[in-house]
Parts: sequence; structure tokens; C-alpha cells
Amino acid sequence: MTDLAPLLTPEGRALLDAVRGTDPADELAVATRLRREHPAELVSAALGQARLRQRAAVKFGAADAGRMFFTPNGVEQSTRASVAGYRAARMKALGVTSVADLCCGIGGDAIALARAGIRVLAVDRDPLTAAVARANADALGLADLVEVREADVTDVDTSGYDAVFVDPARRGGRGRIFDPEAYSPPLSWAIGAALAAPRAALKIAPGVPHEAIPAAAEAEWISDGGDVKEAVLWFGAGAPGAVRATLLPGPRTLLGAGLPDPAVRLVGRYLYEPDGAVIRAHLVADVARELDGGLIDETIAYVTADALRATPYAVAYEITDQLPFNVKKLKALLREREVGILTVKKRGSAVEPEELRRKVLPKPHGRNSATVFLTRVAGAPTMLVGAPAGPAAGSVTAGAAVTAGGAS
Ligand SMILES: C[S@@+](CC[C@H](N)C(=O)[O-])C[C@H]1O[C@@H](n2cnc3c(N)ncnc32)[C@H](O)[C@@H]1O
Repeated sequence: MTDLAPLLTPEGRALLDAVRGTDPADELAVATRLRREHPAELVSAALGQARLRQRAAVKFGAADAGRMFFTPNGVEQSTRASVAGYRAARMKALGVTSVADLCCGIGGDAIALARAGIRVLAVDRDPLTAAVARANADALGLADLVEVREADVTDVDTSGYDAVFVDPARRGGRGRIFDPEAYSPPLSWAIGAALAAPRAALKIAPGVPHEAIPAAAEAEWISDGGDVKEAVLWFGAGAPGAVRATLLPGPRTLLGAGLPDPAVRLVGRYLYEPDGAVIRAHLVADVARELDGGLIDETIAYVTADALRATPYAVAYEITDQLPFNVKKLKALLREREVGILTVKKRGSAVEPEELRRKVLPKPHGRNSATVFLTRVAGAPTMLVGAPAGPAAGSVTAGAAVTAGGAS
């Protein structure tokens, strides 16, 4: 799609309604039928849009996504509604009434800001993307609050706004960009724009090295449903130099107290797996203190403690066995315990979880479930066997789950 205008005509809108929810398997038949009465190009554009709306539903919910417009990159790069809504609420709580959204994409953040009652100047230099952002503000009844401007953000005067929000493009023709100076616009430009504004928020990749965080910023890592989604640098807001982990849907937010690394101790009765946002924000020490726990290894982000304490920032497991890494021993143990459902988690181990599961449970038929952690304990490759503890325990119902830890 290079032009949105044909889809916004009455004929385009009628076609969009006609193809709503089309199963990919039926697309050819639907296209053939519709092409008898409509231009082939418009039919393909409508079908393409229906596909993008289906993909976007996970980020925006089916109701909004079904009314919005997307480009393939726009779906990919947009902020999901839960995260954008949280950020907009934080802006609102700071007293912000107007925001220059620099690099607005299809409008994921602009929509959330407008829904929080904030006036938005939404800027994108890509003509199609800017047209889509405009159509989205219209479609969601937010046009009064959102002015979309097709321009290069480096040419825009933001002096009349309470805050700027910058979400640079972090994907190029060859995929994801890791060097912040290769972002468009470069991170250094975005930081300059942020420092010049009364308040600012700057969205960056969650893997950003902590050394790259300017001293004037508060850095916040945000996860949703346990998956880390992004990091944001706040200027003129929060605590400069501080780090924060925020867990959605809560929101539950943990502001770092600048604690030293927790001590390594023997594995206790419980093992806690911190949320990814806590790990990325380097706040494992704060969670360990809350749990009166320590680390199982100085390089591994698992906390161990003797007591079970409720915390939103980590998932608790009761550990029943600690074995040196040994596939045969694990297999024998699982057989003895009649385990048929095994969740494999790992942190600090190169073992492929799915492969291990196939080896230790070739024919799963036991009636019990267990979780095995492939990790290191005080430097030694170790298997910790246990089960979820606390309120979330027993939520695994059937099948075998395999998860691998991200950053250790
Ligand atoms: C990550 S996306 C923004 C996503 C948006 N926050 C959302 O939730 O939909 C980045 C956008 O920046 C735009 N962009 C990149 N460099 C730009 C520049 N110098 N001026 C204006 N827009 C730019 C791209 O066209 C792209 O749409």
C-alpha cells in the first residue's frame, strides 16, 4: 500500500467492512468475488488492511484495531495500548497537558496520550505513516486532540509544548538496529531534544547498556504480562539517575534504592524468578532484600530464600531437589516422582530446553507436574527441581512448557 486515500473513500470503507475478519484460507475466493465489482488494487489493499488489523489486535485490542489503519512497519513498531496508556497516565499525573510526539508512527502513543486528555502534535516524516496516524485519530474520535504533521522531527519547533515524547525508529532495511546512534533520529539528537523540553520521555530498546543512560534521566523498564516491552528515559520527571521497573497490567512499580549486589548463599526452600523488567533494571538486589534472600550464583538472576513471601516482582517456586547437571539422574528422578508435565527454565546454561525435555521425558505419562531450572549454583552447572509456590501455584494445567530465561 502506498496511498491510504482510496481506502478512506465510501467504496474503500465498504470493502473494508466486507473483508473484515476474512480467514486467510478464504482470501483468494473473497478477492475473486469482490474483483468482479471493485478495482483489483482496492480489493488487495482492503484485504491487506484486514490482515494487518488482525495482527494489530494483540496490541490494540480487537475493537480498536478493527477501526484503525496500519502499515506493516507501523504494526511492528507501534507501542501496545497497555504500555502507551500507562505512559500517558504518568504524563498526565505530571500535569502535562500538551505533548509533541516526535516519530509518531501510526499513532500508538499519540492515541493513548489523547485518550488521557492530552493535546498532541504527532510528527512523522513518512507520508503514508503520517496519513495513517491521521486516519487513526479520526477513526477513534480523537481528531480534536491530535494534530498530525508530516515533517522531519529535526525541523519541528516544540517550544509550545509541556513535554516531548520521542520514539526513534530502531529498525532499518536490514532489521533491528542496536547502535543507538544509528536510530532515526540518533539517540544523541533525541536526548538533546529531551533536555531542551520542560519534560520528556524517550523510548529506547530494553537492552540498552546502563552506561548509555544520561545522568539527568530516570530509566524505566516496562514489562507486560511478564514480557519486557521497552525502556523509557524520563527527563524532568521521576528521579534523575534512578532506575525503575514497572510491571503491567498492575501497574506495580519498583524504584531502585541503589543497593549493592546481594550476597550468594546456599539454595533455600524457595527460588524466585524476578520479572524481566526487574532484571533489566538491575533491581534484583531490591527484590532480594524484600524477600530476605540471596543469589544462587553471583552472575545469575535467581533469588533464593527460606520463606515464601508474596511479591509482584518475582515468581516463587518451592525447590524439592538440587542435582548436579546430569540428564540420567534427572530422568530417574522424574520417573520416580511420576512427572508427566515438565516446565524447563534456564538461566546461565547453554542447554536447549526442548532437547532436554525430550531426553528426560521421552513418553510423558506421569500424573504430576514439575519445573526444572537449568542454571549454575556457586559456579557449578546445576538442576533445581521444584514447583510453583504461592497463589500462582497449580495454574499449569496440561502439556509441557519450555521457557528460557532472557538476560541472566
Ligand atoms: C518506532 S516508530 C514510532 C511508533 C509510535 N510511537 C507508535 O506507537 O505508533 C518510529 C517512526 O519514526 C519515524 N521517523 C524516523 N526518523 C524520523 C525523522 N527524522 N523525522 C520524523 N519521523 C521519523 C518513522 O517513519 C517511524 O514511523
